[in-house]
Amino acid sequence: MGEGSSTGIITLFFDEAAPGVVYIDQTLLPGEFRERTAFDIDSLCRAIKRLEIRGAPALGIAGGYGMALGALLSIHDEYIAFRQEMDEIRDILRATRPTAVNLFYGIDRVHSLLMSLHEAPVHIIKAAMLSEAHAIAQEDVLTCHAIGEHGLFLFPVDTHVTVLTHCKAGALACKQWGTALGDIRTAVGAGRSVSVYACETRPLLQGARLTAWELLRDNINVTLITDSMAALLMQQKKVDMVIVGADRITSDAVFNKIGTYTHAITAQFHDIPFYIAAPLSTFDEQAKADDIVLEERSPDEVLCFGGELTAPVGVPVYNPAFDVTPHALISGIITEYGLVTLPKDIGKIISWRS
Ligand code: MRU
Repeated sequence: MGEGSSTGIITLFFDEAAPGVVYIDQTLLPGEFRERTAFDIDSLCRAIKRLEIRGAPALGIAGGYGMALGALLSIHDEYIAFRQEMDEIRDILRATRPTAVNLFYGIDRVHSLLMSLHEAPVHIIKAAMLSEAHAIAQEDVLTCHAIGEHGLFLFPVDTHVTVLTHCKAGALACKQWGTALGDIRTAVGAGRSVSVYACETRPLLQGARLTAWELLRDNINVTLITDSMAALLMQQKKVDMVIVGADRITSDAVFNKIGTYTHAITAQFHDIPFYIAAPLSTFDEQAKADDIVLEERSPDEVLCFGGELTAPVGVPVYNPAFDVTPHALISGIITEYGLVTLPKDIGKIISWRS
């Protein structure tokens, strides 16, 4: 695994012989490239909670594969008992992280299939659940490439474009290729001239550890900055546009990694376009931002840097993992079906989904 895709990265896949979910442990990068296998639901949940597997689309794939793994490990061959066990596994997987909606999309899609097949023998249902999970993973690859194609208009031929991005919406946040970084990769692949400022993305440094690693590996021109440098760069006219991913898109806002909202406000102040790149599975267009649980993570992530304590013991910490950017600050959302702006295009999202 890992070598051989167009990006050189395959973030996770299902090993049917094991059976298990094989994934790149993203907490170890860039120092160490290590693949691990989750052989049971507990270890998969731990990997998701620890951000060994992270990024909204990758979480969707992990959720689907988690349901399939649970099914394959089940000893039940009678539908009601099997279904009860799958309901429990669905709830356990759903409880791992609250904000990225793709996780629920993957889990619920495989669970719905199980419900629809209630008259089939359990061994057939198990095989169908695994096929559905594979389909989610395969669709993610196609989706990211389609997002890249639809984003090409942002990169005119014969014009150099400097993009600022935040956090990590690349291959490692998906099965491969990426959403925001997928746009950049597709543009570079099409011969467009692109350079990237990657914000380090405190507290967990997904930008420094993962975005910078991934872009360097692809020989894409990347410069690392701390999050607080973005405003100066925009003021200095060093940024042509911002492109980031998303973890959930409601009718009124975009949830993305903490720090995104600050960049959006700053970009609007400096008249710099601000784009989101995200698949349809990230939309929760019937919901409002206030309905969504904003994940809060351990204070240790803020108290420490590189494993070293960098704050006084006992200081209170607030550590939300995401923030909420109103659509008014967003120039457009690049999906696999094309560009939308919300709330104006909500009807398009609903019709594409059906
Ligand atoms: O907490 P994480 O690392 O799972 O955060 C998710 C992200 O990487 C981002 O918020 C990203 O921009 C959206 S996922 C493509």
